[in-house]
Amino acid sequence: MIKGRSLVEPEDFSLSEMDSLFLLAEKIENDEKYLRDSLRGKLLATLFFEPSTRTRLSFEAAMLRLGGSCLGFAEPGSSSASEGESLADTIRMAASYSDAIVMRNPKEGAALLAARYSSVPVINAGDGGHHHPTQTLTDLLTIKRLFGNIENKTVGFCGDLKFGRTVHSLAKALARYSNIKMIFISPTELVLPEYIKSMLKKQNVEFEERENLEKSMPELDVLYMTRVQRERFFNEDDYIRLKDTYVLNPDKLSAGKEKMIVLHPLPRVNEISVEIDSDSRAAYFKQAKYGMYVRMALLASILGVV
Ligand code: CP
Repeated sequence: MIKGRSLVEPEDFSLSEMDSLFLLAEKIENDEKYLRDSLRGKLLATLFFEPSTRTRLSFEAAMLRLGGSCLGFAEPGSSSASEGESLADTIRMAASYSDAIVMRNPKEGAALLAARYSSVPVINAGDGGHHHPTQTLTDLLTIKRLFGNIENKTVGFCGDLKFGRTVHSLAKALARYSNIKMIFISPTELVLPEYIKSMLKKQNVEFEERENLEKSMPELDVLYMTRVQRERFFNEDDYIRLKDTYVLNPDKLSAGKEKMIVLHPLPRVNEISVEIDSDSRAAYFKQAKYGMYVRMALLASILGVV
């Protein structure tokens, strides 16, 4: 039962709780009338201190499709945070006006702090370069729906593995499934943080770090491409030097398995060429749509209607 609980990190839910969410998401996808209006009278506060298209809009769409309503802000300049209000006070206020809070914040640990001060469940929609657990639910659901299961996969992560919160959350989550091999492909400046690597070692998860995407392609069941994030760099020259390190194009994808899938949390910049979009292995737009269904399942479960 996840009724009334916050979601700050990917491990906050057990594997069987996540499985129930995936089943519910599939049920909602297959029957658009299922749970319709079940959240009538409920309010979701969406507090976005950083830009977002998919996460914010899919949460809002999820809440509206379930008959609930949303309030909030899409950038901090329109909230009292711009006048110096603390996050704790902002959260206390939002909690007193709503039944659940979805928050994105540039500071690592902000979601944990919010959950401590909130009297209603807090859902982490991304805290700096730390975690993005609802993207992980989206990614896992996509793998499950397209392969039938999550286990027994070789998953390549490519791009900005240092600041990429979606990578950190997904790697931690995949480590809980059996027979997963992870290949981390990045320039040396953007390698996976040590704390994730030591966690994988402790859990005896097989992984390798590499710099070459082309040579890794034939091994992969899932390629998880990521954007080099300009907003996380202190130095523009470093960003410009690294931003186009990896560009997936038809020539590179031709070395991949016929049944592999290409995922990307989006937004993309240059790292996947638009010619890939029509390849049957490109699953990133499907993935974004699954994100809405899994968020519907999450809200219905957290707010206790299932
Ligand atoms: N995947 C993701 O978090 O996208 P947005 O930044 O558009 O929300």
